[in-house]
Amino acid sequence: MDLTQVTEGRTTILVPAQNPDVHFPPGTAPVFYNPRMALNRDTTVLLVKQVSPVSYLDAMAASGIRGCRVGYETGTAVTLNDRDSLAVDLINRNVSSLNLSCTVTCRDANSLMSDEKFGFVDLDPFGTPAPFTDAAIRSCGKYLGVTATDTAPLCGAHLKAGIRRYMARPLNTDYHTEVGLRILLAFVARHAAIYDKGIIPLFCYTHEHFVRLHLELKSSASAADKSIARLGYIHQCPKCPYRMEETKFFPSTLTCPVCGTGLTPTGPIWTGSLHQPGILNGMIRESSSFMAGDPKSLEKLLELCKNEPEYSFSYDYHQLAKYYRVSPGPLDLLINRLRERGYTAGRVHYSGYGLKSDAPLEDIRSCITAR
Ligand SMILES: C[S@@+](CC[C@H](N)C(=O)[O-])C[C@H]1O[C@@H](n2cnc3c(N)ncnc32)[C@H](O)[C@@H]1O
Ligand SMILES: [Zn+2]
Repeated sequence: MDLTQVTEGRTTILVPAQNPDVHFPPGTAPVFYNPRMALNRDTTVLLVKQVSPVSYLDAMAASGIRGCRVGYETGTAVTLNDRDSLAVDLINRNVSSLNLSCTVTCRDANSLMSDEKFGFVDLDPFGTPAPFTDAAIRSCGKYLGVTATDTAPLCGAHLKAGIRRYMARPLNTDYHTEVGLRILLAFVARHAAIYDKGIIPLFCYTHEHFVRLHLELKSSASAADKSIARLGYIHQCPKCPYRMEETKFFPSTLTCPVCGTGLTPTGPIWTGSLHQPGILNGMIRESSSFMAGDPKSLEKLLELCKNEPEYSFSYDYHQLAKYYRVSPGPLDLLINRLRERGYTAGRVHYSGYGLKSDAPLEDIRSCITAR
């Protein structure tokens, strides 16, 4: 394997040399490494620093970059696993050059997670984490990290695949990225409840082509009941921009109050908050002295997440403006107008045009069309 050295955060490792001429270079390398996931790994390292788990499993380690960063940059006892022996050879080279004392295994992740327990279990598969979620919930003592890159099924572009993987109905709307994030959260919450575990989202977000969850799991029937009580739906009007959130186990049958059309429910989704403020504030504080792999994106993401209002859906400002036949002014102006009327309003972390507000649609319309 032709190798090259990369430094991400404070960690230097060897990864396969990649051919920049192909469409998706990481997909053609013998062992996977995607520099565009540096932000994903940055958030995990920052979070691990906040929660200090007793141990950490990188269940699908590939080059080992994630587990190596967690071990090297936080001092946590790490296990790195991959079922591919080429990947494990590379992991072994990387951990020894970093002088990292850790465990390296070459096993099927589900089998390993069924046998052993870890303070923090991290899933970072190709595509969907759904086939690994059950074993990960059983294996993790307290914390669970999940990456999903199958955004087409999660967000409604591949509707049937989304239903099969997540037993939920996604919807391809202007806020489909958030629907994907919340469908994955609800999926994990339902799985955890099987084992009398509740979930507490510590820092969950979506960025470009992936969804990322960092969760605390609490073992008790009442914690599981509390999570289940957060399940719900977004009801979307198929004819106009009206949408609403409902926290309920079964969706109600509802009609659009604006145009009278039957609303389409999407879910089950997680309708609770996506972050623990204490964790997020700690990550923001730590980030000033933290050497990130993707510092600009990290700073922007943390700031946006901190200020994002806690609703489960958003509006795409440009689509709203198009619907109301006006050209959109600056989003901040609209946000200020809504706030002046006493509403909560703010940006979203996953789109430069996304608006979250508790204002009724009619007031949003009048703020958009006001001159
Ligand atoms: C997306 S890559 C992991 C990327 C890595 N965590 C990183 O941050 O660069 C997915 C890895 O999962 C491994 N994998 C796939 N199925 C697996 C399984 N059932 N058990 C263990 N590893 C598996 C693949 O060999 C591959 O190396
Ligand atoms: Zn309507």
